[in-house]
Amino acid sequence: PVLHILNGPNLNRLGVREPSIYGMATLADIEAMLRDRLQERGYDLIFRQTNHEGELVEFVHAADGAKGVVLNAGAYTHTSVALADAVRSIAAPVIEVHLSNVFAREAFRHHSYIAPVAQGVVCGFGAQSYWLAAEALIEMNEAGRL
Ligand code: DQA
Repeated sequence: PVLHILNGPNLNRLGVREPSIYGMATLADIEAMLRDRLQERGYDLIFRQTNHEGELVEFVHAADGAKGVVLNAGAYTHTSVALADAVRSIAAPVIEVHLSNVFAREAFRHHSYIAPVAQGVVCGFGAQSYWLAAEALIEMNEAGRL
């Protein structure tokens, strides 16, 4: 089974970008952590990042056959109807994640186009937000198989 971990704009800047908000871990660190833990659980992952809205839409389309998607859409979370429509278009469950607690930040980060079409949302736990979402997808997947 495969999970897709999809990352939107500016997440390639993790580690150097506002570390007081986003932490010191780089995106490569997050990928390595997830790869280790998912392997232990018998899962493969496809881990991707793009700064381009249309490419992120295509990454979502490509995840259609996956067991699930962990999506940190960055600022496109708050702006992109196209991305929400892409999420709506695939069968795989999608969990929206954020490193930061978006609800403790500026008002423009409180609205998400993705949340209403996602299975759920995890935010505020730094790099662990990704793992909590991945674990939730694994649990859902295993419960469905029993
Ligand atoms: C973010 C939160 C977004 O509001 C912001 O635009 C990001 C990162 C997060 O992971 O905390 O780029 O998605």
